[in-house]
Amino acid sequence: MTDTQAPTEPTNESLDTAHAIEEQTTPAHPIHKVLSFVRRSARLDTRLQRAWDNYADTYLLDIAAGNARLDVREGFSLTKAYIQSTWGNSNPLIVEIGTGQGENVVAAAAAHPETNFLALEVYDPGVAHTLLLAGKQQLTNIRIAQVNAAELFKVTEPGSIAEVWTFFPDPWPKKKHHKRRIVQPELAGNIHDALVDGGVWRIATDIEDYALHVHEVMDHLDGWKNIGTINSSLPLEHVGKGNADLAADMPHADFTESERFVGRVLTNFEKKGLDAGRVIHDFTYQAVALNAVK
Ligand SMILES: C[S@@+](CC[C@H](N)C(=O)[O-])C[C@H]1O[C@@H](n2cnc3c(N)ncnc32)[C@H](O)[C@@H]1O
Repeated sequence: MTDTQAPTEPTNESLDTAHAIEEQTTPAHPIHKVLSFVRRSARLDTRLQRAWDNYADTYLLDIAAGNARLDVREGFSLTKAYIQSTWGNSNPLIVEIGTGQGENVVAAAAAHPETNFLALEVYDPGVAHTLLLAGKQQLTNIRIAQVNAAELFKVTEPGSIAEVWTFFPDPWPKKKHHKRRIVQPELAGNIHDALVDGGVWRIATDIEDYALHVHEVMDHLDGWKNIGTINSSLPLEHVGKGNADLAADMPHADFTESERFVGRVLTNFEKKGLDAGRVIHDFTYQAVALNAVK
């Protein structure tokens, strides 16, 4: 059992601004896609603008549709040939979805020069900060794409990615917004196809209800094996101040989680979760053959 603790379920107020974006009105989208993010324009400060000017040519992939759209440009595919020519080698590629400020993906790239990294982030300041961190260290094994990750995985060549990481995805706590959570069966299917044999999708969240969501989406999905070894049990009902004492008697979901992924540095999001007393839930799903017995 990792936890059945109660008092730390976040409120919108307790979440970071990026967590609270759902309070804004959902913008109209021409094709009415359900998006896991809210389009926000943000002016870059001088430091970040300089980083963009200095490093975008080196690190930012020219694969977005342009005109502030976060779709992948028409005709683009993330193929093995593109990866080979962009990174200049055939080393394994790890893709992090929603890299935020880039602390984790840049630290990983610096620590593992023998591995290629691709950071996917939609928010301008996050992209600029990732450019800054990568540029300062003159890393050669990382690239950044400012695209909707869900769209990129639709056009990724099967068997081309070693690992996918999604750490502290936006929680979208309201029930009516759960469909906007990035961990969804369709994305899982596309990631499954994109991974090499035995490749893994690592997911971590500090939000108990999101951990349940990951379990509900992933543990019943064909083609994935949860290779976690820690037994976890979470109440199916929201446990808040009023019913915390009753948590033990509520129906629970039992599943397995992983040890904290040693390859992850402590980002601000994880730190804020820990500071607020929340428990971090790590999951590791391995892509296995479809119809394989789990
Ligand atoms: C809560 S933040 C976590 C950032 C980072 N992983 C960390 O731990 O610090 C989630 C990030 O995912 C990004 N994001 C959400 N949906 C995305 C998508 N479809 N494609 C790429 N990035 C996305 C958001 O812009 C945000 O920066």
